[in-house]
Amino acid sequence: SDPALVERAHAAKAALGERLFVLGHHYQRDEVIQFADVTGDSFKLAQEAAARPQAPYVVFCGVHFMAESADILTGPDQRVVLPDLAAGCSMADMATYDQVEECWEVLEDAGIADDVVPITYMNSSADIKAFVGRHGGTVCTSSNARRALEWAFSKGSKVLFLPDQHLGRNTAVLEMGLGLDDCVVYNPHRPDGGLATDELRAATMILWRGHCSVHGRFSKESVDDVRARIPGVNVLVHPECRHEVVREADHIGSTEYIIRMLDEAPAGSAWAVGTELNLVKRLADRHSDKTIVFLDKTVCFCSTMNRIDLPHLVRSLESLARGEVVNQITVDEETAHYARAALDQMLALP
Ligand code: 13P
Ligand code: SF4
Repeated sequence: SDPALVERAHAAKAALGERLFVLGHHYQRDEVIQFADVTGDSFKLAQEAAARPQAPYVVFCGVHFMAESADILTGPDQRVVLPDLAAGCSMADMATYDQVEECWEVLEDAGIADDVVPITYMNSSADIKAFVGRHGGTVCTSSNARRALEWAFSKGSKVLFLPDQHLGRNTAVLEMGLGLDDCVVYNPHRPDGGLATDELRAATMILWRGHCSVHGRFSKESVDDVRARIPGVNVLVHPECRHEVVREADHIGSTEYIIRMLDEAPAGSAWAVGTELNLVKRLADRHSDKTIVFLDKTVCFCSTMNRIDLPHLVRSLESLARGEVVNQITVDEETAHYARAALDQMLALP
């Protein structure tokens, strides 16, 4: 990366001192993540945002839904900045408030809404989290989805899981012992979600038809190929991958889990990793004593995570150092109130 920009980022950070706290998700570029005070998966970053009341400025190097959650969890005098407002998430965009409200009406018409506990993955907009908060549900991340499901099934007999069908299905089937037949997929683009009333009544897990465009591209063939190419390879994937991929893997977990597994792996071991490429490359560089390869050569970066680059970060830091807050993320008070209920429920999961 451009040494002059690196210098400017250091200078602006130094000028801001304790007034600034920089959070960085593991999928961020190397040129950006080097300036993070804390790095983490979505869960750890939510906890860290909540634990830093003293910093008036929080710069979030990640995507929009993460910055919204940070705004909800930080205090009223703290301002959260996303260096590029175009850093969204295609999965989060797959569930809109109106669609979710319509889905709930379908559940009411089927006479099952009272039995359903809604869970939304962190990767959703603040108004979806607020919807879930208003209906007594919880947020989850890839590191606590099982605990969220256990909690939900202690309160109701059915779960509506938004918006990532893969995380919902993988957790229900591979970690909770439910059958694939216990899951149905609600398609927001079809009347009544494309489901008959009987199907809804019989289902235990109602999965939203959403997915991650990055993880959705790994296939069972990717796993078969790498096993043929590298005998003894350990396949390690994120639970946003499709069920047929996750079922074939040796280890499954969040970005934080993936990092821990590779840190602890013995020298000489071989790993094929199914998650975003910035993280896999960084881990391969860090562990030159291990063979670490990307699970599929054709899958690449998360384009929206990559929108946060060094020029955008420098612009954010320098404007804050001048006392100007550019690209602030704010969630309105009413939405924040109910979304906070769902986020607090996640943070309180046993
Ligand atoms: P985690 O870091 O929580 O595993 O999330 C992965 C992800 O896709 C974030 O967008
Ligand atoms: Fe969204 Fe997938 Fe990118 Fe994560 S990796 S921000 S889920 S598109």
